[in-house]
Amino acid sequence: MIKIAPSLLAADISRLGEEIRAIQSHAEMLHIDVMDGHFVPNISFGVPVVAGLRNISDIIFDVHLMIENPLLYIEKFAKAGADIITIHIESPDNTKDCISLIKSLGKKAGIALNPNTPPEKIEEFAHDVEMVLQMTVFPGFGGQSMEEQALENIPKIRKIIGKDKDLQVDGGIYAENCAKLVALGANVIVSGTGIFRAPDPSVAAAELKKAAMAGMIS
Ligand code: DX5
Ligand code: ZN
Repeated sequence: MIKIAPSLLAADISRLGEEIRAIQSHAEMLHIDVMDGHFVPNISFGVPVVAGLRNISDIIFDVHLMIENPLLYIEKFAKAGADIITIHIESPDNTKDCISLIKSLGKKAGIALNPNTPPEKIEEFAHDVEMVLQMTVFPGFGGQSMEEQALENIPKIRKIIGKDKDLQVDGGIYAENCAKLVALGANVIVSGTGIFRAPDPSVAAAELKKAAMAGMIS
C-alpha cells in the first residue's frame, strides 16, 4: 500500500495548523523531522511542537529523530503524541535499546539509514521494527537533490524486510521521480518541498500519490 507522508519541515512555520489541516485528508501520515544541531547541522522541531500539534490533528505523527541521543528523548516524544518513532542506525545510542523502548511505550518503531550506510546493517533489527527509512539525501535539510547512491539500497532493504513492512524514502522526492522509488520497493513517500512549497499542497499530495501508484504497476 502506498502511503504519503508530507514533511512538516517545508511547511509555513507561521501557519503550521492550517498547513496540516490542508493536507491531512490527502496523506496517511505527517512526517515530523526532529534535529538537534549535533547529529545533523540543523535544529528543527522539539517536543512542545509535537505536543501542540497533537491537539489540532488526528493524523498519524511519523517522528523522524535525527538526534545524537534518542534514548533520552523517545519517551518525551511518545508522550507528546508521536505514533511512529524512527531512530537512526548511525546514532551512538544502542539501536536495540531504542527499539525496545519505543515498543514498550506502545508506539511503532522505525529505523533510518543514511544513503551511504550499507543496508545489511539493518538486518539484525528488521524483525523488530515496523518501518525502515532509507534516506535519499543526507539528513539535515529540506530541498536537497536525491542521492542516486541511495537508490540501489532500496531493493536490498525490501529483500531484507519482506513484502509486508513499510519501506519509507525521504529527501528530494517529487511526483516526477517517485515512481522509480516505488518500482524499486519503497511504499512510504516523504515529501517536504514537493508538497508544502507547491501552489496547493493538497493537490500536490494527491498528485504524488497518483504518481507513486503508477510505480507499483510499472
Ligand atoms: C531531511 C529530512 C526530510 C526533509 C525532506 O533531513 O529528513 O524529511 O524534510 O525534504 P524535501 O522533501 O524537501 O527533500
Ligand atoms: Zn525526515
